[in-house]
Amino acid sequence: MNSRFKPTAALALWCLVLYAAWLTGPWSGDEATTDMSSSSHDARFHMHQPLHNGGKVTMSGQFHLELISQPDGTHRLWLSDAVRQEMSPVGFVGELRVESLDGEVQETAFKQIGRSFELQAKTEPLKGQAWLTISGTMGEVTHFDHIKLFWDYDLVALGATPPLGLDPMLPRSAANPISPEKVALGRDLFFDARLSADGTVSCATCHQPQYAFAEPRPVASGIGGLEGKRNTPTILNAAYQKRFYWDGRSETLEEQAQLPILNQMEMGNKSEAELIARLKPIYERRIQEVFGQETSLRTVAQALACFERTLLSGDSDFDRYESGESNAISAAARRGRTLFFGKGGCGDCHVPPLFSDYNFHNLGVGWRESGDCDTGRFEKTGDPRDRGVFRTPSLRDVSRTAPYMHDGSLHTLHEVIEFYNDGGRNNPSLDPRIHPLGLTPAEIGDLIQFLLTLDGRFDYAEQEAPQPQPPATQNEPGEAATQGPGNT
Ligand code: HEC
Ligand code: HEC
Repeated sequence: MNSRFKPTAALALWCLVLYAAWLTGPWSGDEATTDMSSSSHDARFHMHQPLHNGGKVTMSGQFHLELISQPDGTHRLWLSDAVRQEMSPVGFVGELRVESLDGEVQETAFKQIGRSFELQAKTEPLKGQAWLTISGTMGEVTHFDHIKLFWDYDLVALGATPPLGLDPMLPRSAANPISPEKVALGRDLFFDARLSADGTVSCATCHQPQYAFAEPRPVASGIGGLEGKRNTPTILNAAYQKRFYWDGRSETLEEQAQLPILNQMEMGNKSEAELIARLKPIYERRIQEVFGQETSLRTVAQALACFERTLLSGDSDFDRYESGESNAISAAARRGRTLFFGKGGCGDCHVPPLFSDYNFHNLGVGWRESGDCDTGRFEKTGDPRDRGVFRTPSLRDVSRTAPYMHDGSLHTLHEVIEFYNDGGRNNPSLDPRIHPLGLTPAEIGDLIQFLLTLDGRFDYAEQEAPQPQPPATQNEPGEAATQGPGNT
């Protein structure tokens, strides 16, 4: 491939076969229908519904398309083959239609570049979000009719496009548009312990990058070592979530980010005024530049939310397998996959691509006869049926987020699967899908192998704490520790 495009290629490359697979994926236990990758290898001709109901993808044999679309209006299309055999694109005639979400339309033809398998189309420069539609024919048999893809040029420009396996339509906040400056500011705030009342606790104290932004202790410990009652969840891929916390009590990243700052057991600020007095000397100039407003809890939270939206983890071995790399996962993991979507029933709640239905269920974790336990979703809704009900967590990067469950009570993946195999913990609101599974020790091993394939290729090394910034007005040596008492 042309080296000029290499750096962005990794970010902006989408494989249509994968799209189709996610969408059509019944993710049920029936092996014959769930073995997507082998179906795309075996069938001579098949059709899929692509993402977001946008028309049809027609493929013949092992053929698939890959597209890179750049904000400068360059669109490069590869006609390739799932097992990377050479295939001539002789006679490809194709068109591209770009339709921005504001309704602006551009149409252009693809032209072949040199003797390669690559075609190119040019449009005016693009920004924002757009639908791209590819239509064309190759030879006499293969017709591509309205293959429709979603593209986010702002994220391409930011180098933050969702990796393989995640939905390319990353939710946006209209009230808080993402920009490189906001992301950089949010990143500095995330690692800055001066967000807490005594300068010891940053967001990263509990959401530690090397543990997939979770932490290796059962329950979180905040200011003055005060312990909460819940395990710190990962914030990778939080951008896709619609509700936050184990009980779903917060609805946006912007709203959520304000809560730990004012929580007396986490960052310990008594008021917004107290926080602002501390942050203003350090951040006022940048916040003014980015938001055109003064430092406030709201602007701090908006910047944090923008940073969090760039923490995306995908391109796991599982994603590669689903996109047609049949050797990306081991035979044991493939057996585990069948158990996960079949006999184990795990896929009923841990639904791809994020391996969560973002719904709430009772497994009996932490339940006590005495009633003296975390009531979970009940705290938010007051509905007695919600007692002991918690949100299904994502299983992406799960190998890095031990210990597990809302109370961190299970230490290993093995313990988690044993817990399910025993039918959870019986209690009046136990979810009907939780029952003894009869998995053999070998099957438990296979399921673990499958869970390990869900680790993304997120670059943790890139996420080290930045150098603390000295206050603009006065310097207070020793006060600027960016890492709190977290056990790093
Ligand atoms: C003292 C440890 C601690 C600190 C400090 C902390 N968090 Fe958290 N965070 C947690 C815990 C524990 C939860 C889950 C709490 C619950 O569900 O009740 C959580 C939940 C979250 C969630 C929701 C994740 C999900 O899957 O629902 C996000 C997002 C988040 N924190 C971001 C932040 C940001 C941003 C900061 C800094 C402003 C921060 N956290 C500071 C421990 C911490
Ligand atoms: C009825 C829905 C449901 C089913 C079925 C289900 N889970 Fe879960 N899973 C959940 C919920 C809800 C939690 C969090 C429970 C809590 O903390 O109280 C969870 C937690 C987990 C966790 C801990 C993740 C973390 O970050 O703490 C793992 C691992 C897990 N499940 C794997 C599995 C596997 C493997 C199966 C199949 C054997 C399975 N789940 C079946 C809903 C389900």
